[in-house]
Amino acid sequence: MPHGVAALANHTLANTPLATDIVVEGLEKRFGDGPPVLRGIDLSVRRGETVALIGANGAGKSTLMRCLLHLVKPDAGEVVLFGVRLNGVRQREVRRVRNRVGFVFQRHNLVPRLSALANVLHGALGRSPFGALHRSLSPAALRDEAMACLDRVGLAHLARQRADTLSGGQSQRVAIARALMQRPEMLLADEPVASLDPAAGEEVMDLFTSLARQEGLTLVFTTHNMSHALTYAQRIVGLRDGRIALDRPTTDGLASELAQIFA
Ligand SMILES: Nc1ncnc2c1ncn2[C@@H]1O[C@H](COP(=O)(O)OP(=O)(O)O)[C@@H](O)[C@H]1O
Ligand SMILES: [Mg+2]
Repeated sequence: MPHGVAALANHTLANTPLATDIVVEGLEKRFGDGPPVLRGIDLSVRRGETVALIGANGAGKSTLMRCLLHLVKPDAGEVVLFGVRLNGVRQREVRRVRNRVGFVFQRHNLVPRLSALANVLHGALGRSPFGALHRSLSPAALRDEAMACLDRVGLAHLARQRADTLSGGQSQRVAIARALMQRPEMLLADEPVASLDPAAGEEVMDLFTSLARQEGLTLVFTTHNMSHALTYAQRIVGLRDGRIALDRPTTDGLASELAQIFA
């Protein structure tokens, strides 16, 4: 293991103020005989940062997101989340780390026949393994918390409505409420608004980033919408040809540079 990662793992475990939630070093991934999808990715994300991961279709954004949680196992390199080096621990510990992360995907994956509220309640299942949660909290307390999560995304009035009768934007809000129900420390969102119309997309991105800011949550989202990256992220990381082609704070001059690199 590289010294840098080892040192940082110890550093963050010590719970210092400069907590680094994500450290990636030398990450490599290819599928079968195909070309490398990720080649030597180095990245670190501090607690509370909002980062947009951009790049053309097939650039490896989703693969990188999945590698962060070892949902896809990297071929080489290190991932350290919350100071835990994923290569170095048992599967049970990897699951415990995953439980600290809320996921939102392009397709919300709600259970269609269940109500919005019941879908949000499902978020609690990701919170703690082996049912420990359900022994520690009453059903009423869980339901109150799920209602509060729905309220935070502005949908308390639709709690009883079946998920398959919600609009795309409403569904994605329920997915966010479900992620909040998990009480995550970090949110990973893979193309969270790609299937929404532009107005709903703006609303959901705005909701996402303001919730992350209020809660002090680390947020990494992928997008192929440059304007979303520039508007909602504090920092933009660009992937091209399996490498990080750009890693910069979001500033005024960045738009034209992005257009050149990713045109
Ligand atoms: N499970 C998989 N098996 C084989 N190839 C894959 C798999 N997942 C992704 N790929 C390939 O890896 C490349 C990057 O895909 P992906 O990470 O989904 O890119 P992006 O999210 O940026 O569009 C693509 O060429 C894709 O076909
Ligand atoms: Mg993708």
